[in-house]
Amino acid sequence: GKRRVLVTKKLVGDRWLRELENADCRVEVCESREILSNQQIAEAIGNRCDAVIGQLTEKWNDDLFGVLKKAGGVVYSNFAVGFDNIDIAAATKHGIPVGNTPGVLTEATAEMAVCLTYAAARHLLEANKYLVEGKYKSWLPDLFLGQQIYRKKLGVIGTGRIGSAYALSMVRGNLMDIVYYDKFTNKKMEQQLEQFNQYLKEIGEKPIEYKNAASMEQVIQEADIVSLHPNLDSSTYHLMNAERLQLMKPNAILVNCARGPIIDEAALVEHCKQNPGFAAGLDVFEHEPALAPGLKDLPNVVIVPHIASATFWTRSAMATIASLNIASILKGYPCWSSGDMTPFVGEPGGNGEP
Ligand code: GLV
Ligand code: GLV
Repeated sequence: GKRRVLVTKKLVGDRWLRELENADCRVEVCESREILSNQQIAEAIGNRCDAVIGQLTEKWNDDLFGVLKKAGGVVYSNFAVGFDNIDIAAATKHGIPVGNTPGVLTEATAEMAVCLTYAAARHLLEANKYLVEGKYKSWLPDLFLGQQIYRKKLGVIGTGRIGSAYALSMVRGNLMDIVYYDKFTNKKMEQQLEQFNQYLKEIGEKPIEYKNAASMEQVIQEADIVSLHPNLDSSTYHLMNAERLQLMKPNAILVNCARGPIIDEAALVEHCKQNPGFAAGLDVFEHEPALAPGLKDLPNVVIVPHIASATFWTRSAMATIASLNIASILKGYPCWSSGDMTPFVGEPGGNGEP
């Protein structure tokens, strides 16, 4: 008979559904728009389930993979590029390959990081609020003074697909110098920066400077803007802590479109209170959907609810990849997203390829 595929949230577009139906699957979509508990997911899996498309809000741990395995599950597909919500060792133990959705959300996510950078630099939301609340009585020379970005120094931590797309967009758009931190020199990105410098020379502009910093601290100390793009794992948890925040320039801008726990959010709240000229733009939060006490009341923090990949094209492409991951495994091929996804090959950084 048909294979049963559980989809824990309504997805975007319709191609994903056709891909599963073409692979002889019967698809069941959970109606709830709330975060499902593992108990609820286990009930939805029931005693017969071949595959699941799950969400980054769900904790795919040993117990849940055990439930899926017992129900006959042969693949789990995460509707996200990030996979910090998945216990890969547990999936491996149960022999369940895991897929993610790399590639299609690179530009959308980088564009949101750009949005947040400008919004934080120019008090966009604070100024909008001031206007909407009827406080605008006169043009003033010192109303909402912000930071110019043109020709400043960009700092990027993690130059995988998203980090390097953000870096190139900011550097090319604003002729910025860039200092980045990654395990390896990002040769592909540096080639593109070198080509951009050739162009700058041709038009008589001063070239930009770029370097792979010797340490993360160097990026944090030198840059006017620091954007975080690593995967979340034990090595990047609270990467931006109180000590490192102290190293940043007092008027710097910090951007995070990766994962919330990369920043010690309570320390960030304290830092923003102490440094009114400092600004932050955040798409993700440490205890999502909860915010650290005080965060939403800070005038120098721009926050949006984890929507960096939320464009129509990207979300429907993510859905299609999530279903192709399942269709591939069911047909006996490796996971569509990156070959055999157990263990993951989606290393952060490096040359930016999956
Ligand atoms: C979204 O945060 C994702 O990882 O795709
Ligand atoms: C995620 O897609 C990354 O490698 O940046």
